[in-house]
Amino acid sequence: MTRHITRILGSTALAALIALPAFAQSAPPLATLPPPPVPADNPMTPEKVALGEKLYWDGRLSGNGSMPCSACHLPDLGWGTGGAISFGYPGTQHWRNSQTILNSAYYNKPFWDGSVTSLESQAKGAAGGAVAGNGDGSMMEMRLRFVPEYVAAFREVFGTEWPIISHAWAAIAAYERTIVTDATKVPFDRYLAGDADAMSGAAKRGMDIYNGKAGCISCHNGALASDQKFYNLGVPAAEEFGIDPLYQITLRWELYQKGVPEDVYRKGDDDLGLYHVTKRPSDKHKFRTPSLRELRWTEPYMHNGALWSLADVVEFYNAGGGEGQTAGLQPLGLDDGEKADLVAFLEAMSMDEPMLAEPPELPETATWSEFLK
Ligand code: HEC
Ligand code: HEC
Repeated sequence: MTRHITRILGSTALAALIALPAFAQSAPPLATLPPPPVPADNPMTPEKVALGEKLYWDGRLSGNGSMPCSACHLPDLGWGTGGAISFGYPGTQHWRNSQTILNSAYYNKPFWDGSVTSLESQAKGAAGGAVAGNGDGSMMEMRLRFVPEYVAAFREVFGTEWPIISHAWAAIAAYERTIVTDATKVPFDRYLAGDADAMSGAAKRGMDIYNGKAGCISCHNGALASDQKFYNLGVPAAEEFGIDPLYQITLRWELYQKGVPEDVYRKGDDDLGLYHVTKRPSDKHKFRTPSLRELRWTEPYMHNGALWSLADVVEFYNAGGGEGQTAGLQPLGLDDGEKADLVAFLEAMSMDEPMLAEPPELPETATWSEFLK
């Protein structure tokens, strides 16, 4: 254990370790990601992944045919939208930042408020969600049944006579489990593997700050750099909720849908995070700790995209978080050099190049006469 930590903390580590605050000593150290967990009832096969890839890009899995998963999780934009709060289904507005799906396979509870428990149920919720895919399950299923290539592929992969919509979510989830960090391309992981020169001096100093003085490790820990717990950091509300009717109607509709008390619904002007799921007042404004891997490709940051650069994020924490935070954050007292070092370390947890993917060729819907043959 100590030897492991020594490797992660760098050469000055053992001395530093003794001086580390108690939380940092008990948190699981950062580590290289293992392959993602695969649920027993949805084993991976190359054919299933290939089918899932097509479905991920296929607008037929949305209400009006224009909103495939890729519309809001585009490889070129870090597998998100690249904007602060995501756009929504045509004519609507979303109310949260579109998370990257890179490494989403590692979370036990997808979404900023952890409201689902698997990628399979997440995909169903996304394609059906009113402000996302807005697709009706049986209609999407019928669309798949009109595509001969899909009929054959579902038969091969799942053994059913016709495509079944829940199998589409299983195939998409299997595909997402392949969109994960390649450790050989990440300076930090190469450093952990023994290449002492893989990280710059600044990044190494930043790593010690991360594990020590700045205390990032207390929440962003383990291989994913996330404890998968929920905290209120006091991230400032998106001002659109106060001034833009479409944002406000979405927010209040989400509040209403999720059954909050009348008073909360009528005054709603910010995203209440975990509270939407639990209705416990102490959970207001809590969001799931995100992974800090691949940040170079996934700005802006936070549940509402309020912070546009890693330097802004470090400033935010250096000031002790935002107004009303309940996460126990304290001002960090980092000087400019330390802030730059911390940013360098965060960057070293991303791959050297963004992971890109070309859209696959999608199979045609059969004409009516072909279908009747
Ligand atoms: C209209 C845009 C939009 C569409 C279409 C969309 N998403 Fe998302 N996605 C989002 C937003 C916004 C979030 C964050 C929502 C939240 O946390 O409540 C999200 C969250 C996710 C997450 C959670 C990641 C994490 O870190 O927990 C996954 C996985 C995901 N989407 C996959 C999909 C899949 C699969 C589809 C297609 C079936 C899809 N999305 C369609 C916008 C979209
Ligand atoms: C008390 C737990 C906690 C600590 C300590 C903490 N974080 Fe976070 N971090 C979170 C949570 C929770 C979020 C999401 C907050 C939100 O969206 O409202 C977050 C979000 C982030 C993000 C945005 C990532 C994204 O994909 O949007 C970055 C970057 C980040 N933290 C870096 C750091 C750094 C650097 C430190 C140390 C200076 C740190 N965090 C300390 C819990 C913590």
